[in-house]
Amino acid sequence: MSNESDAALVDCPEPMIRSDLPLPGRREGKVRDLYSLAAQGDGAQRLLIIATDRISAFDVILPTPIPGKGCLLTQISTAWFSFVRSLGVIGDHVVSTDARDVAGLNASQRLSIESRAMICRAAKVVPVEFIVRGYLAGSGWREYQQRRSVCGVPLDEGLRESEKLAEPIFTPTTKAASGHDEPMNYQQVCAQIGTETAERLRDVSLHIYTAAAEFTLSHGIILADTKFEFGYALDGQSRPTDELILIDEVLTPDSSRYWPADAYTPGVEQHAFDKQYVRSYLQGLVDAGTWDKTPPGPPLPAEVVQNTQARYAEVWNRLFASSTN
Ligand SMILES: Nc1ncnc2c1ncn2[C@@H]1O[C@H](COP(=O)(O)OP(=O)(O)O)[C@@H](O)[C@H]1O
Ligand SMILES: [Mg+2]
Repeated sequence: MSNESDAALVDCPEPMIRSDLPLPGRREGKVRDLYSLAAQGDGAQRLLIIATDRISAFDVILPTPIPGKGCLLTQISTAWFSFVRSLGVIGDHVVSTDARDVAGLNASQRLSIESRAMICRAAKVVPVEFIVRGYLAGSGWREYQQRRSVCGVPLDEGLRESEKLAEPIFTPTTKAASGHDEPMNYQQVCAQIGTETAERLRDVSLHIYTAAAEFTLSHGIILADTKFEFGYALDGQSRPTDELILIDEVLTPDSSRYWPADAYTPGVEQHAFDKQYVRSYLQGLVDAGTWDKTPPGPPLPAEVVQNTQARYAEVWNRLFASSTN
């Protein structure tokens, strides 16, 4: 995907479905592969996160990768981590995105992870997904129709699908080790992680969402909702410290709903830049009775792969490409 005449394109030397690096502690998430790295500089634990081209929907990993997606996600996330740093509300896990900083790899192994690697501070993950919604969509919309509330937050009567909320709301879920995440209310979050931590992380999540949504809107994109993860940074002996940091990916099209602002029409599902496009394709298969949302997932046709690539690239282009020219 390298193309010097178009700085908007993200450099991504090689597609990757699965990494195979000679490093310890390998584990696999749905989209990313993780490795442990030897402690660096400050003696604290490090983690190497490799964003592959895998795509998951309805918590099922699909057999068809989206070439270059991991690179785009890493670039988008990195740009947003810088944005969040500039807000000064919380530290984060990013140490480096330079593949040359990973020791113990040969040239071809290093090339294979270029533009997809993030060296991070390892953390003990806070077992809650910190979701913030500014608009009513997806599971939030479904819950609202049943109860007039989302995750225990009461909302006005008469809201339509995709409608902008009077103010952003905090709608956490559990972070299930496997299977689906379940909605939680704020009191349940307090009971699980302590009131002080719950309050701090809720406020930080709302703060980041609000600033980010303002930024995306100035680039013609509505940030309908997003999910944050936090953790306690580990010290050199792998013990959690009391320092809370922002971890995982941040404000990517995998963890957020992005809608083109010029086509925004409340009352219907929006034409999204994010994974929603793939979910809609798959929902068509479910409605036709050819898939039931359980593994194995169905392959994606070439057209869906291309359109998905284009949507992820469009997010990068609109939000960040001009500032890196
Ligand atoms: N700094 C960190 N320390 C420890 N774990 C992390 C850190 N950043 C992200 N993670 C975890 O790494 C995994 C990333 O891989 P991913 O493919 O997103 O997994 P998942 O299938 O759980 O979404 C997630 O489980 C996330 O919680
Ligand atoms: Mg994830």
